[in-house]
Amino acid sequence: MPTGIDRRTALAATLTAGVMLAAQGCATAQQSAAAVSLKGYQAKPLPFDPKTIPGLSERILVSHHDNNYVGAVTRLGAIEAQVVQLDPAAPGFMFNGLKREELLAMNSMILHELYFASLGRGGGKPGAQLSAQIEKDFGSQQKWRDQFVAMGKALGGGSGWVLLMWSPRAGKLVNQWAADHTMAIADGRGLIALDMYEHAYHMDFGAKVAAYVDAYMGALDWANADREFARTGAS
Ligand SMILES: [Fe+2]
Repeated sequence: MPTGIDRRTALAATLTAGVMLAAQGCATAQQSAAAVSLKGYQAKPLPFDPKTIPGLSERILVSHHDNNYVGAVTRLGAIEAQVVQLDPAAPGFMFNGLKREELLAMNSMILHELYFASLGRGGGKPGAQLSAQIEKDFGSQQKWRDQFVAMGKALGGGSGWVLLMWSPRAGKLVNQWAADHTMAIADGRGLIALDMYEHAYHMDFGAKVAAYVDAYMGALDWANADREFARTGAS
């Protein structure tokens, strides 16, 4: 058993190491963490030509991807490298802080990939399987759309996500509200993501949030949602 002094010394060393790692940046932490074989994450390129999305400018789509999405992927790698360095005897707040940031960055990566995968030239509709499920769970395509759009517009002035999710437990599709990256249905598979953070629209629309939601719906592409829904094994 370590003595009180030993334990305090160890904690001080851990805290100092944490501060040093933070000060030295990701590269050192990643080098040190290589021994535990970190998975690492590669940012994906935009899955479309940003000049071709109706209603959303190339400028905002590239900024959203390069600054917010790539930033989250980069941050996730740096956080994971620090998590593996953390002494199990470190104070709880260090675990709470790092693991919370890890969850934020990981879900930011996943939800942004779903957001970009949900955009295209618009004008289409879901495939037969997903269409049938939407009609079953929402009453009609229009009722799904009306609810999804109303949820997006209701988030104006705040931020968050509107997500079309499949829940195996509920056995149905759910339009889900989320105030930040950490709130997603625990067993959900994301089908459609609408990003309601200001960085997703302010450059193009200013405070006209409703116009952004309408533009997003005009560019909505169902191909990725159809593929993801088929993978759920539902229906
Ligand atoms: Fe975003």
